[in-house]
Amino acid sequence: MLAKNPAFAESHATKSGAIIFIERCTLCHGNTGTGNGLLPLAIQNYPPTSLFDNTKKTSRTSIEQHLKKESRRNTHCPPWHHELSIKEITEVSEFAAYLLKYTDAAITLLDKIQSNANIEISANIGYAIYRTHCQICHGKQGEGDGQLSRIIENPTPYNLTLSQADDDYLFKIIKEGGERMNRSPSMPPWGGDLTDADIRSLIIQLKNFRTTQNRP
Ligand code: HEC
Ligand code: HEC
Repeated sequence: MLAKNPAFAESHATKSGAIIFIERCTLCHGNTGTGNGLLPLAIQNYPPTSLFDNTKKTSRTSIEQHLKKESRRNTHCPPWHHELSIKEITEVSEFAAYLLKYTDAAITLLDKIQSNANIEISANIGYAIYRTHCQICHGKQGEGDGQLSRIIENPTPYNLTLSQADDDYLFKIIKEGGERMNRSPSMPPWGGDLTDADIRSLIIQLKNFRTTQNRP
C-alpha cells in the first residue's frame, strides 16, 4: 500500500469495482456495505451482512478468495465465479478492500457513481483534482511553474496565487476553457471531465493558493 491518501489509492480498477459492487453486492450488503441490503431486510433470520463487523477478510486477495470459493458451507454469500469474470472479481474485491480501509472516500465514490455526479464540495477534493488535472501547468502551489509551463508561452500558465478573479469568473473559465473567455486556448475546458461540484471544490483550492498560510 503506497498511499495514505485515498485519492491516490483509488484506481481505475477500484472504480470499475465500485460499479460491480453497486450491481451485485448492495442487494445483500446494503448501499454502503453496512448490511442493510434489501434481501436481509426481507428474509427472516438472514445472517448479518455488514462487511464491517466480524469480517476477517479485509485485503483484496482474501476477499477475492472468498468470492471465488466453489463450495462453502454455512454461507449465503454466493460464489461468483460463474457470473463474474476473474477480472471483475478482482475489481470488486479491490473495491471492497478500499471500502473497508477508506470507508468515507469509498462511500463518496459510490454516491458519485450512483448519482452520476459528485455532490460533495471540499478543499480536499479540490486539491486532489488540482494535482491530477491542473498542477502539470499551474505548478504544485499554483504559481504557474508546472512541467508544461516550459513549453506553454504567450501566455504561460497563470500564476494562480496572483489571481483576483471572482468565483463566477473562475467557474466559467474552468468549465468552458480559456478560448471561450477570450483568453488562451492553452487553458483547456474542463466541463466534459469535471462536474460542477468538482469545479466548486477546485475554486476553494484556488482561493487557498492566494493566501500563503493555506498553501499545501
Ligand atoms: C445474496 C446475498 C449476498 C450477495 C449478493 C453478496 N453477499 Fe457477501 N455475504 C453475504 C452473507 C450472508 C455474508 C455473511 C457470511 C457468510 O455467510 O458468508 C457475506 C459475507 C461476505 C464477506 C465476508 C467474508 C468473511 O468471511 O469475512 C465479504 C468480503 C463479502 N460477502 C463480499 C461480497 C461481495 C464483494 C459481493 C458482490 C460481488 C457480495 N458479497 C455479494 C451475502 C451476500
Ligand atoms: C495545458 C496547461 C493548463 C492546464 C492543464 C490547466 N491550465 Fe489553467 N491556464 C493555463 C493557461 C495557459 C492560462 C492563462 C490563460 C490566459 O491568460 O489567457 C490559464 C489560466 C487559468 C485561470 C485564469 C486565472 C485568472 O485569474 O485569470 C484559471 C482560474 C485556471 N487556469 C485554472 C485551471 C484549473 C482549475 C485547471 C485544472 C482543472 C487548469 N487551469 C489546468 C493553462 C492550463
